[in-house]
Amino acid sequence: MLSAVPPASAPVSAASQQRWWWWPLLPLYPYGRRRTLVRELIPGQVWSLEQLQGVFYVAVPIRMTVVRLRSGLLLYGPLPPTGEVLAALRELEQRYGPVRSIVLPTASGLEHKLPTPALARAFPAATVWVTPEQWSFPVRLPSSWLGFPAGRTRVLFEDGLPHADELAWRGLGPLDLGLGTFMEVACLHRASGALLLTDALVAIAPEPPPLFDADPTPLLFHARDRGDQPLNDTPELRRRGWQRLVLFASYLQPARLEVPPLREVLAQALAPGLRQPRSYFGLYPFRWCPDWEEEFRTLVPGEEPALQVAPVLERLVFPRCRDALIRWIRDLAAWPELRWLVPAHYEAPVPCDRETLAQLATTLESRPWAPDAQSWSTLARIDGALLRLGLVPREPVS
Ligand SMILES: [Fe+2]
Repeated sequence: MLSAVPPASAPVSAASQQRWWWWPLLPLYPYGRRRTLVRELIPGQVWSLEQLQGVFYVAVPIRMTVVRLRSGLLLYGPLPPTGEVLAALRELEQRYGPVRSIVLPTASGLEHKLPTPALARAFPAATVWVTPEQWSFPVRLPSSWLGFPAGRTRVLFEDGLPHADELAWRGLGPLDLGLGTFMEVACLHRASGALLLTDALVAIAPEPPPLFDADPTPLLFHARDRGDQPLNDTPELRRRGWQRLVLFASYLQPARLEVPPLREVLAQALAPGLRQPRSYFGLYPFRWCPDWEEEFRTLVPGEEPALQVAPVLERLVFPRCRDALIRWIRDLAAWPELRWLVPAHYEAPVPCDRETLAQLATTLESRPWAPDAQSWSTLARIDGALLRLGLVPREPVS
């Protein structure tokens, strides 16, 4: 199923078709050039448009999902509308009808929020639906100042729900996080059984996603053990680089990682063949302990994608909101049509039924939540600092 790719998905096209001019608003890798991979997830019904996004070379897929309605298309989780993205969407419009609705399914996820105005401008006849409690920092701005088009922007639940005869909607939150409000809205496409999610749940695989096929540089960078090693490319090194990258993205500072002395980092820099931005000139301030793979296996035990709450969210967003999260998962598990999960990051589609989600809720309820030790220690320190500064509440209101 995953190999079914519309013709617009050619992995490499002219750089101009990958240009994203608004990248300085959220300056994340790969900055102004966003390659897009288009995949048909469920034949004739659900498509995924994926780009990479991250800090330096710690980059994971971010996805916009397209679902087919009886009268056209719905876009869930906006992506930067590069030329490649628009070409793929125009092709789908020709086959299945116009984009009717654009949904921003999160109140706080900047990576999904910032592309929304530009995507909305590309589809001037579409209705824009946003999650309640949109906020901006440091000053709360009115919705139209955030770039949502006046006159055709609606708020989910408050102004109704789009295509409610074909789609089911369920919100997690709003949860008061002090600095802002977390809310995410899940959407079930009844015809296909695909449950679209944003950030709350992800499925992580031990193999790198196909999005890296066009440019595996981030994987090769992290596969090394020293800064003076070249960026060699083998399937084994891509897998190693991906697993280390996942540990960074999950824990910020994994437990099995040491930071070598600055003198050692500098001594390994500028080796022949590495004097270029692609390899950060040989600067590599990481030293992985020999047993680092065990840390990865606690996240992803087998060869199948592991469904989970991303540790960053568990420790920094939901540390005191486990009950609300579990209630939401159990609500989602009540939908009999459920067959697939399509989160906005990492793997998709992930086979999933009601029993899978119910089991996940039970597991989350029974295991230690938002721990402090080992891999979690950096996240716990950040949460502790936010609490001490009074920036996040001890008892969030949900
Ligand atoms: Fe996200």
